[in-house]
Amino acid sequence: KKVVLAYSGGLDTSIILKWLETEYGCEVVTFTADLGQGEELEPARKKAEMMGVKEIHIEDLREEFVSDFVFPMFRANAVYEGLYLLGTSIARPLISKRLVEIAEATGADAVAHGATGKGNDQVRFELACYALNPDIKVIAPWREWDLTSRTRLLEFAEAHQIPVAKDKRGEAPFSVDANLLHTSSEGKVLEDPAEMAPDYVYQRTDDPVGGPDQPEYIEITFEKGDAVAINGTAKSPATILTELNEYGRKHGIGRLDFVENRFVGMKSRGIYETPGGTILLEAHRGIEQITLDSGAGHLKDSIMPRYAELIYNGFWFSPEREMLQALIDKSQEHVSGTVRVMLFKGMARTVGRWSDHSLYSEAHVTFEDDAGAYDQKDAAGFIQLNALRLKLLAARDRRLKG
Ligand code: ARG
Ligand code: SIN
Repeated sequence: KKVVLAYSGGLDTSIILKWLETEYGCEVVTFTADLGQGEELEPARKKAEMMGVKEIHIEDLREEFVSDFVFPMFRANAVYEGLYLLGTSIARPLISKRLVEIAEATGADAVAHGATGKGNDQVRFELACYALNPDIKVIAPWREWDLTSRTRLLEFAEAHQIPVAKDKRGEAPFSVDANLLHTSSEGKVLEDPAEMAPDYVYQRTDDPVGGPDQPEYIEITFEKGDAVAINGTAKSPATILTELNEYGRKHGIGRLDFVENRFVGMKSRGIYETPGGTILLEAHRGIEQITLDSGAGHLKDSIMPRYAELIYNGFWFSPEREMLQALIDKSQEHVSGTVRVMLFKGMARTVGRWSDHSLYSEAHVTFEDDAGAYDQKDAAGFIQLNALRLKLLAARDRRLKG
């Protein structure tokens, strides 16, 4: 029996690695991805080697993550429950896809992940894996083992010579998931939603209170809904998000303290930092303002919550997500042009936008003489017909009231 484990190199997945070998009797293949979490991958390789793993897969997936997952999602302006930019949710399908592909390539019949039985991530990993390979087995050690306390975990680590960093001996103060799009922190010191999160939770944005006292302006160029250049210089998708993250960090943009509804039914409180993504969302809305028709724009806005919920709940690889994606992608045909964004004290605000594809007509909207572009008399009939049923309703009410 052979299993491909999503391996971070950290203590928990190292314990899982040993547990799969000793308790499950599996040969373990490790898979570690660079999704822009900002950690070196070589230590994960060294640790896997030290633990005797023979097949170690390490991949830089940053470009694929941004171009095939983050950007398609941003075309929709997807936000879960009004606030969450889905930074963890959107990474899980890609990790799952590679797990399944590596399993197929190495002749493994199972994959394993380190998500607990209480969260969304287990659902996302597993729905994606089954959608891509209906015969794959998924092992979720957190749902199976009896290592139910930190003490038992550390005892297991000790017994199997898994090195435990000094600071890991005590409880870690919260649980973190990071990638190019966001960092999330949940649990422990953050569990009481009445209590303000301590400053040290924020890891990739500077406190906007102490940030630059002067605003900074940047220009983001879009082509068919995707960002392609910053300040006139074309860059790859991952490079664009990396650079926007730096602007966002400096101005403290994209911090969120949020209580959300998990798919498994409970509410959970998280602290999110999505610096570049928050700038990108604002800029994308900015370019859509002048390039999207109102009917097209309102339709895509109306399906956005459903699309976001599908991603949150783990249905990236589903026919309904793909159908909505086709609609969203179609809407982006003319979403090309440039947006000027002001960055200042925790916020990103569109302050200018222009495009060859613009539908904005100054001739029509001007309060000055429009030289016959628009006949104001047309509005009278327009209003009369729209008012007709409202008048009939009002007349009936008056009649019934006597
Ligand atoms: N609550 C967020 C979500 O469901 C973040 C999950 C973080 N996951 C983690 N393994 N720390 O998308
Ligand atoms: C976990 O339970 O592993 C992390 C939180 C989540 O998946 O929602």
